[in-house]
Amino acid sequence: MAVERTLSIIKPDATRRNLTGKIIAKFEDAGLRVIASRRMRLSRAEAEAFYAVHKERPFFGELVEFMSSGPVVVQVLEGENAIQKNRDVMGATNPEKAAPGTIRKEFAESMGANSVHGSDAPETAANEIKFFFRDLDIVG
Ligand code: RTP
Ligand code: MG
Repeated sequence: MAVERTLSIIKPDATRRNLTGKIIAKFEDAGLRVIASRRMRLSRAEAEAFYAVHKERPFFGELVEFMSSGPVVVQVLEGENAIQKNRDVMGATNPEKAAPGTIRKEFAESMGANSVHGSDAPETAANEIKFFFRDLDIVG
């Protein structure tokens, strides 16, 4: 195992319900450290650019609409095996299939409004971190 960095987004359904702290506590309890953090609102164009890999998928329009519908909290998480660990803490994309104790099981409203995003591989993590943060903003 190696120390990795991954990008997390706390999505608009979670900021709207004031769940930011409870979600960050789940990351920290799992041994992940928040080494960069910003609250912001994505424009439609920024959400389209961030999720460009999904542009052919039928849910793309809904995803972009939702991700630009309210504030998000973008963060870099660091820790041993951080990419997979974050995804384990998040739980399955569909909250009905998410394991007990995961963020999506406890907090997600639906498949779309599923409270968190996490990078899915080392290359995407590096690109997604660069999308939101300059090196100077990341303090490990
Ligand atoms: P994320 O990228 O947000 O961490 O989620 P993920 O890897 O678990 O899921 P992914 O397949 O990358 O899909 C990105 C987001 O699109 C929404 N989605 N909606 N209605 C649908 O069938 C559907 N499928 C995916 C979800 O919000 C998912 O998190
Ligand atoms: Mg994904």
